[in-house]
Amino acid sequence: MAFQLTAEHEMVRLMAQDFARKELEPYAAYRDQEEIFPLEVIRKMGELGLLGMMVPSEHGGSGAGAISYCLALQEIAYACASTAVTMSVANLSCEPLLNFGTEEQKASFLNSLACGGKLGCFAITEPGAGSDPGGIRLKAEERDDRYILNGSKIFITHGAYADIINLIARTGPEKGNKGLSAFIVEKGMHGFSVGTKEHKMGLRSSNTVELLFEDCEVPRGNLISRPGQGFKIAMAALDSGRIGIASQAIGIARACQDEAVRYARQRKQFGRTIDSFQAIQWMIADMATGIEAAYLLTLQAAFRKDKGLPFTKEASMAKLFASELSNQVAYHALQIHGGYGYTKEFKIERLYRDARVTTIYEGTSEVQRLVIAREVMRG
Ligand code: CAA
Repeated sequence: MAFQLTAEHEMVRLMAQDFARKELEPYAAYRDQEEIFPLEVIRKMGELGLLGMMVPSEHGGSGAGAISYCLALQEIAYACASTAVTMSVANLSCEPLLNFGTEEQKASFLNSLACGGKLGCFAITEPGAGSDPGGIRLKAEERDDRYILNGSKIFITHGAYADIINLIARTGPEKGNKGLSAFIVEKGMHGFSVGTKEHKMGLRSSNTVELLFEDCEVPRGNLISRPGQGFKIAMAALDSGRIGIASQAIGIARACQDEAVRYARQRKQFGRTIDSFQAIQWMIADMATGIEAAYLLTLQAAFRKDKGLPFTKEASMAKLFASELSNQVAYHALQIHGGYGYTKEFKIERLYRDARVTTIYEGTSEVQRLVIAREVMRG
């Protein structure tokens, strides 16, 4: 299949690249070092339409579509992988409302999320519910015209800055992934607070926190779809999220490759620059080939999403391949840098740390293989 990007796709990519070069790249190392979450920059991204790219304009989004989203996210990740995960999760947080929200909920919440007026996050994970959301314990009890939430979420991307939290909670007595429901919680609601902040190995200028719910009162109108639909709503949102993480991984891999080439061109050993050695050239060739394959897999998933075709399997393949590849590329790019790559002086050190989590969040590589195998064996 030949992909022909449209002029609009290219325009979005160039816009994101220009933004990333000016607003992200020069500050990425400092923000990483100091763990600074660049809220003002994220607001600007909202104004550019980068936080609601798969939401049609009638609901406040830029309606750019999944392919443009992939291209833009790669450019953002190339400059700053931390900002890329923020962008990815902000776009992901639109999905439950877009796919399952009522017109009223779309008007109240989706519009402001998609235009970037408000920042959204997505809260599934709990201490006992990572790969298996069936272990969710955060309880939502129906009382009169509201639900009372008690429990906690962990590892929530930009949870401390989010205005709107898409959350999965347990409403029914059923076990496992049954009896789960999706809710909208707004910042400032009584009983909601932000807990501990994580100090991470990579993506240090993205914010990752615990969220606490203590008799938190949520109006019944904030329930998305029907009680018991929470697991399916989350899985459908994660299908889109995985396209985002694949794109982030590709952006990181591209940055690693460019750093490796730049270094190899100027580093001299044995009387010549190391780019003249075949051992280095082969590493670069493998990087470039892998990146291209990851790019095509990811565009394929995005293409299917834009066409309204099923894309669960393709999104998992893209996420699995791109995230594993990104780690391999980071490994070899650091290897090419030798001892210098292991110091903070060189950008590859940050990229190496940033790549690591891409095989873990939004479904580990093991979970992606499970999803792919089930889809393939279903026939
Ligand atoms: N879309 C819609 N519905 C889906 C679906 C999808 N993609 N996948 C499954 N479902 C439906 C199934 O059809 C099934 O429906 P029925 O009960 O009507 O038959 C139901 O959901 C249950 O499906 P499974 O039996 O496949 O569910 P399972 O318990 O075996 O779980 C799993 C499968 C693939 C392991 C899944 O639990 C999973 O993806 N786990 C990983 C969770 C994850 O990615 N967490 C990341 C947290 S978010 C994060 O990291 C954010 C961040 O900040 C970056």
